[in-house]
Amino acid sequence: MPEVSSRSESEERFSGPALLEVSGLVVDFGGVQALDDVALKADPGSIVGVIGPNGSGKTTLLNVISGIVKPTGGSVRVGGEELVDFLPEERRDVGVVRSFQDCLLFPDLSVEDTLLLTKDAKKSTSVTSTTLQAPWARRSEREKREAVDRVITVFGLDRFRNHPTSHLSTGTRRVVDLASIALADPRLLLLDEPTAGIAQREAEAFMPLIRRLHEAADTTILIVEHDVPLVFGLCSKVVVMEAGRVVASGSPDEVKRDPRALAAYLGASDEALAVSGPASDTSINRSGRD
Ligand SMILES: Nc1ncnc2c1ncn2[C@@H]1O[C@H](COP(=O)(O)OP(=O)(O)O)[C@@H](O)[C@H]1O
Ligand SMILES: [Mg+2]
Repeated sequence: MPEVSSRSESEERFSGPALLEVSGLVVDFGGVQALDDVALKADPGSIVGVIGPNGSGKTTLLNVISGIVKPTGGSVRVGGEELVDFLPEERRDVGVVRSFQDCLLFPDLSVEDTLLLTKDAKKSTSVTSTTLQAPWARRSEREKREAVDRVITVFGLDRFRNHPTSHLSTGTRRVVDLASIALADPRLLLLDEPTAGIAQREAEAFMPLIRRLHEAADTTILIVEHDVPLVFGLCSKVVVMEAGRVVASGSPDEVKRDPRALAAYLGASDEALAVSGPASDTSINRSGRD
């Protein structure tokens, strides 16, 4: 079966958490320099956070890595392979996965069916082979159900299994989104503001959930998040952006002590700082902002 053997070869070639290396990224939106010579690196299996004020280029950076936005210059290497000319779906095929917006795309489907559908979108067995119940199609059907059962358990979704996604709280829907992501077998996962728009109490439960996703999916994660204390608690490395540039990068402790990071940190989200409080050993002095 050529289809089957080529799939397993590519799975072998593109498996395990990926090294991400971007350099020299430039994006110009009709005069607005959204990215200006941006470089960063994420080691395989690490969680790297990107913080910075609104409009500093964080989402554009994720869009360039996932292929939605084409940079005018620069390089995006994943697992040593240059992807800058790849289409988004080609990047998807080598394991670059971007967070899904909201599982409410299918409001009437149950949690279980939503997850089965996600797994279907990922698997490449043709409809014809499934219809004919070819042995490999039956095997992949069983593997799909096992994978879905596993993420339902890992993410504590058992009691919501048969609930339509439209009946869930925003926070629980976000958990379903995380479970969908784990099913997509990412090697590099790009998360843009996963706690945006959810209640503070639910946002606080997010750190362990992202850790669980990190373990379940065995992937490198690049996360943009306005909740700065969450980023400092979760990430081994933090990158601070301001006006399209990386102004600081390092371990959370290094970044907290970096004066260049402070202004960007203060500007990251007044709302997040107000509800989460400042990171433990950083004294926030609003008048010290210049
Ligand atoms: N599609 C677009 N067209 C024009 N300008 C854009 C577009 N996307 C983003 N920008 C601009 O690029 C800059 C960076 O935006 P963005 O990457 O969304 O920042 P962030 O995610 O840090 O808030 C902003 O000035 C924004 O207005
Ligand atoms: Mg953004």
